[in-house]
Formats: sequence, C-alpha cells, structure tokens
Amino acid sequence: MSSRFLERARRLPSLGLGLSTEYGALRAPGSLDLFEARRALPRCASFLELGVEVEKGLDRDARRWAREVGPTTYHFLDVNLHEPQDLDPAWLEGVRALVAEARPAWLCGDAGMWHFGPRAQGHMLLLPPVLTRDAAYELADGVAALREATGLEVLPENPPGHLYLGDLHLLDFFALLCERADTGMLLDVAHLVIFQAERGLPPTAGLDGFPLDRVIELHMAGGRRRDVEGLALIEDDHAPRLLPETWAAFDACAPRLTELRAVVFECERNPLRACEEEMRALHAALGARVAPAAPLHEALGPSPCAPHAPAPRPGPPA
Ligand SMILES: [Fe+2]
Repeated sequence: MSSRFLERARRLPSLGLGLSTEYGALRAPGSLDLFEARRALPRCASFLELGVEVEKGLDRDARRWAREVGPTTYHFLDVNLHEPQDLDPAWLEGVRALVAEARPAWLCGDAGMWHFGPRAQGHMLLLPPVLTRDAAYELADGVAALREATGLEVLPENPPGHLYLGDLHLLDFFALLCERADTGMLLDVAHLVIFQAERGLPPTAGLDGFPLDRVIELHMAGGRRRDVEGLALIEDDHAPRLLPETWAAFDACAPRLTELRAVVFECERNPLRACEEEMRALHAALGARVAPAAPLHEALGPSPCAPHAPAPRPGPPA
C-alpha cells in the first residue's frame, strides 16, 4: 500500500489482544469480569474497547479501566458516517470530552446506519450499508470528516447483516471506502463470515485481492447457526467458541496482516471460565500465524499469562 495512511499508522500503538464492553455490560448476570480476566490472562486483556453512545458516556467499569489499567479504543455506537449532519457540534463535543477522559488509541465502529431519523439513546439499529460505490464514498467522506474533527484515526468496521442490498462484495466495498478515505480499517472476521454465508460463498472469498495491510484491528467472535422459518443464518451472538469458518477466514488473512496492532475477542456476555480456552487458542494463533513483522507482536507477549509491561498510554493526537 502506498498512502499517507501508512505513514500515519506508524504512530499508532500496538495494543495486542483485548476485550470489549458497552455501557453496563459488565453488570449483567453471567457477563465477563474484565478485571478478573486481566489478572488471570493479562495478555488476553491488554486493552479495552469501549462501546460508546455519547448520551450515556462511560460507565464506572470503563472509567476504572481507563484510570487503573490504561489502553483503550473508542467504538462508536451512535453515528451514521454517511450523513454529514450527524457529526453535529453537540455530538462532537461529547466525543471530544470522552476522548479526553479515556484517551483511546483510535476511534472505530461499524460503518452502517446506527439510527433511522434523529439520534436517540439506545437506538442502535445498525443496518449494513448498501453495497455500491456511491455508498462507499459517502461513508469514506464521513470517516475523513470525523478524523479531521477529532484528530484521531477512524477505523470503519464491516458491520453484521443477514441481508445486503447492492452488488459489490463486502470486501470490495471496504477496499473502495478505505482508499477514498485514505484510512485503515477494523475487520470483523465473524461479520465477514456471516456475509459470505448469506451470499453462498466460502469464508475466504474475496480475500485474495483485498488490501489486508490496511487492517489495523481485528474482531473475532463466536456465532450460532440458526434456522428462522426456513432461513438459515449465523447469529452474531458473541458466544465463546469461534466457528470453524471464522478460523478459516482468519487463517487466510493472518500472514498478510502486516500492520495489525489490535485484536478484540468479543465475548463480553460470557463468564471467564467459558471463554478462557478460546482466549488461549486465539493468543497462540495470533503469535503463530500473524505476519511476523506485524506491530501486534510487540504487545502480544509469549504467553497469555506473561506479566505485562507498563501499559502504553497513547499520546495526544498528532
Ligand atoms: Fe465487531
């Protein structure tokens, strides 16, 4: 890849393997105890991805993590990047205040429609984009505008969906988006597998020509096969076991993930004992299969239980 993004990417920290949360998620019965995970498997809980609606802000667990542990990323849950008016002054002011508190390494989030009509707390509709060139360009312009407004990199994520409109393959759509916005991206491998199944394609379809050197962050998550009134689909339920198709797509990507810095195992709705085995397997797979030169390895460590170096704190936006 030759782009200014690659130059900018050099300033992004390597975060390693981490976990994710949303407001109040850790207080739900049977959910993951982040701080227990950090104690038991520190190299599988190197950073925390904060799912954020500006109106709700950060809950006490997110605040405690930011204060006592450190590394975070900011995953938005409340902005339609394809709608320029959605980046309104009040929302941007809220984002900047939360960024000042949590000091995330970057912003990221599903590049889809989070709300229909005006933004409202708890909306979280999340429809996937229409897979056309025009829609990719609209999203790209929103990515560039949010990057400009916050001074942080904005990594669009391929959203989940069981029905896609538009003719492009999801990966071709994101290749167009990333090139137009001159950005990297967050590749959710489980979401990709859901798309491939919906199109009747193998899990690795379209990866050959895809610019994987733009992938800065990966999401890995379990899913569940369901039959809904005759419609076979994979539900993105963040179960603690990854599907074989997700592993297959990961294996196809890993050797070319030369700029990878962060991986989230999305398992927040499950207790640690249910996730531990897959966390260890993922840690081992990242160490063995991701491109040896990838920055990820700086933070990954040799073992999921290895002691942590002092937590990196991202500096102010360049
Ligand atoms: Fe994700």
